[in-house]
Formats: sequence, C-alpha cells, structure tokens
Amino acid sequence: MDLERFLHDRKKLIDDTLEQVTPGETTPPPTIHKAVRYSVFSGGKRIRPILTLASNELVGGDHRSIVPFACGIELIHTYSLIHDDLPAIDNSDFRRGKLSNHKVFGEAIAVLAGDALLTLAFQVMTDPFLFVSHDPATVLRAVHEISRVAGLQGMIGGQVVDVETEGKRFTPRCLEYIHTHKTGSLIAGAVKAGAILGGGGEREIEALTKYGENIGLAFQITDDILDVESTRKVLGKETGQDAVRGKATYPKLFGLEDSRNRAKELVEKAAAALGPFDVDRAESLRQIARHISQRLY
Ligand code: IPE
Ligand code: IPE
Ligand code: MG
Ligand code: MG
Ligand code: MG
Repeated sequence: MDLERFLHDRKKLIDDTLEQVTPGETTPPPTIHKAVRYSVFSGGKRIRPILTLASNELVGGDHRSIVPFACGIELIHTYSLIHDDLPAIDNSDFRRGKLSNHKVFGEAIAVLAGDALLTLAFQVMTDPFLFVSHDPATVLRAVHEISRVAGLQGMIGGQVVDVETEGKRFTPRCLEYIHTHKTGSLIAGAVKAGAILGGGGEREIEALTKYGENIGLAFQITDDILDVESTRKVLGKETGQDAVRGKATYPKLFGLEDSRNRAKELVEKAAAALGPFDVDRAESLRQIARHISQRLY
C-alpha cells in the first residue's frame, strides 16, 4: 500500500468538502468568514478526518458517504488550535506556517472564529446528506461520541490541566492525563466515530478505539519531541515554546530518547489492537500509526 497516495487522496476528499461547507469570504459579516477560512484553509495535515475515513473503510463502510462528518471533526480541531494559540492559553504567534488567527484578526474575532467553527462542526456532522445512507440512531451515536471527546471529559479537560500545570512540577500520571485528553481524546474519537458510522460490530469498535487511544498519545508525545527538535520552517509553528512556557511534556520528564521509545511502543500497541482485522485491509491504519511517530511535521 502506498501511504502517501492514500493520505493524499483522502485529504483531497476532505479539502473539497471543507470548501463546500465553509461559507465564502464575502458572506456578511465578512470579517468572521475571512477569519474562519484563514484557519481552515491554512494547510493542516487533516490527519483526524483521514483516520475517520480509514477506520470507516476498514469495517466495511462507504467512506465517501461520511466525508461531511469527517470534516466536522477537522473543524473542531481547527477551532481548538485557534483558541490554543490565544495569549490567554499558549500565546503562539505562528500556526501552519502563517501568523496565528488572533495575530491577524485580533483576539475578539479569533475567539468568535473558534466558537463559529465548533458550532459549524455540529451543523456539518448532521448534514442531511448523511441520513440518506445512514440510520439516524447511528449518526446520533457518532455525534454523541465526538461531543464527549471534545468536551469536559476529553479535550477541554486536557487543555485545562495543561494550562494549570504550566511552570509547575508534575507527575507522570498528570502528564499522561494531559496528553491523552488534550490530544488523544479527539484522535481516538475520530477513529471510533468512523467505525460506528461504518456499521462496525462492538468488538471492532472497541479494537479501533484502543488503536486510536494509542496513536493519540503517540501523536502528542511526537508533538512534544518536534517542539524540541524541529524548526519553525519545517513545523509551521514556533519551536522551543514548551520549555519557555514551562509546559508538562514527555521530553521534559523522561528525556528525548525515552520519549521516542515510548511513542514507538504505543505505535506497536496500536498495531496490535488491529489484531481482529484482516491483515491486508488493516494495512492503511498500521502505516498511519507508524507515520505518526516518524513524522517530521
Ligand atoms: C497540532 O495538531 C496540535 C496537536 C494536537 C498536537 P496537528 O499536528 O494535527 O496540526 P495540523 O492540523 O496538521 O496543523
Ligand atoms: C494542543 O497541544 C492541543 C489542542 C489544541 C487541543 P499543543 O499546545 O502542544 O499544540 P501545539 O504545539 O500548539 O500545536
Ligand atoms: Mg497547548
Ligand atoms: Mg499550543
Ligand atoms: Mg505542542
């Protein structure tokens, strides 16, 4: 399987539908539409919606029928980045190779652009198109799952502890809580929602959730490592910022070498979780897991 091609083809499906569901720049009031489009179309990797499509395919779903749902997950992710960059949270000036949203549009519009994206996400995830081919109860279960992982017991919980731990001593348990929640939750939820919408059996959904949790934590550990090792040119965001802000990170607690090993171990665990599936059909998810710990940006 050619991973690059797989990612490229699915990214194109996502980008085309994002284009359709995001109102144009001149829609009144133009400021907020400009701000929303600035961040949605700034070159994200689209890894979360790609995972939704891939897990959907693996359980036998027609991935083309759930592209709007997958786009909703990317909109939630994009909102989380705009808010994460705000001076009140990480105070980051660069994102995806460009100035961050609030640097261009100001803090008020950046807050509102995030709010707008979170709301638009639920509009898009419940697009009537989805109900043509899916049972409403199945769509509702997937929406419920995404609400849960993006909220208090998921991404927001993680972001809160991330902010509260800044500049303080932290335990391995606290660090794992932050990473599995601020980043792992939405990634695991993206994989799980794809399996739910594809009509996967409960054992398949459970296996894919385990896969998602493992790659989710590996993803954030790799993000921490890249903050130490990469450059703004490659990464598209300022590096070295975790140390400056006293963030709780894996390299800070365990060093780079052990952090790398931990990410690799999680990728292996994720691959093992794919056990119940046909080896060939699960190849895309296995390769994505590996890619997550080996990525350069
Ligand atoms: C960055 O996510 C924020 C984290 C949760 C680590 P990505 O690395 O997926 O960012 P984009 O969407 O490709 O810009
Ligand atoms: C971001 O974690 C997690 C969310 C946006 C929910 P980071 O703060 O480490 O992400 P980057 O490094 O700014 O992309
Ligand atoms: Mg942050
Ligand atoms: Mg940040
Ligand atoms: Mg980071």
